Amino acid sequence: MATIDDVSIVDSNAVEARTVESGLERTICGQSLCGSNTLTVYRRTVLEGRRFEPRANGDYHLVYVMTTPKDGVIGFDGESHAAEEGAGVLLAPGESARFEASGSDMELLHMVTPRPPAAVEGELTGGPGYFFNRRTLRALSDASGGRVRRFCAESTVRLPDGSRLTPTNAIQAGEMHYREGGSSPYHAHVGTDANPDGADHCYMTFKGRGAVEVGDTSQELEPGTLVYFPPGVPHRLRALGGPLDYFEIQAWRSFKTNVLSEEPLGLKWYYEPETPGAAPVEWDQS
Ligand SMILES: [Fe+2]
Repeated sequence: MATIDDVSIVDSNAVEARTVESGLERTICGQSLCGSNTLTVYRRTVLEGRRFEPRANGDYHLVYVMTTPKDGVIGFDGESHAAEEGAGVLLAPGESARFEASGSDMELLHMVTPRPPAAVEGELTGGPGYFFNRRTLRALSDASGGRVRRFCAESTVRLPDGSRLTPTNAIQAGEMHYREGGSSPYHAHVGTDANPDGADHCYMTFKGRGAVEVGDTSQELEPGTLVYFPPGVPHRLRALGGPLDYFEIQAWRSFKTNVLSEEPLGLKWYYEPETPGAAPVEWDQS
């Protein structure tokens, strides 16, 4: 039976920081640290007065602002946006962006994944990338209302005009909020014909305490902890003693989820209604 020893748990607060031009870089998931093949994750501190300029050459990058700086700017595609918690960019190969911190430091979560094979992309065009914040992204709730999520990148999420949020299956990533007592079902992710090795999958906790369970074993998680799950290792996350905010990543976005527990709520999610009182619309994950 799988146990907690089958996953990698990395306390990002305890990882040694490397000094780079923009400030500090901490590698919190990668081949040598977690055994991941298609995902590298950095926690970056952009120091006050400095800028971080990610450039996606052959890869896809997703950069997410974890803490709002006093003043900060995200530059992408010729436009400037406020750098605030929950904002960021998805960069397709060849694209770049600029994250400037002023007045205070800025904490970023930075994910890199190689361009996926054509079979993973299917009919998707692969680009372009885009800027996002909590006003441009749509919230989704589970049937109980115990969990609320906002994908920053997910190809099956539709914007209100019917277009896809994300034109690539390179990455699925987004923020998740569990109310007190919130929990995922016990589940495992496995590969697909297009991605037989399965996706590299991790959670990064931001606020509140959680517990991750694997088999009969579990571990409590402090804020700032990354948990990497090798494909096929079953898991469940619970909020402990209050609400829990965390971030979830799958790269590439080609996997199948098997729910192993008897959850009345299953895996159904609903878009938060655009107008108050409107009937909720189910998120079609196909
Ligand atoms: Fe999972």
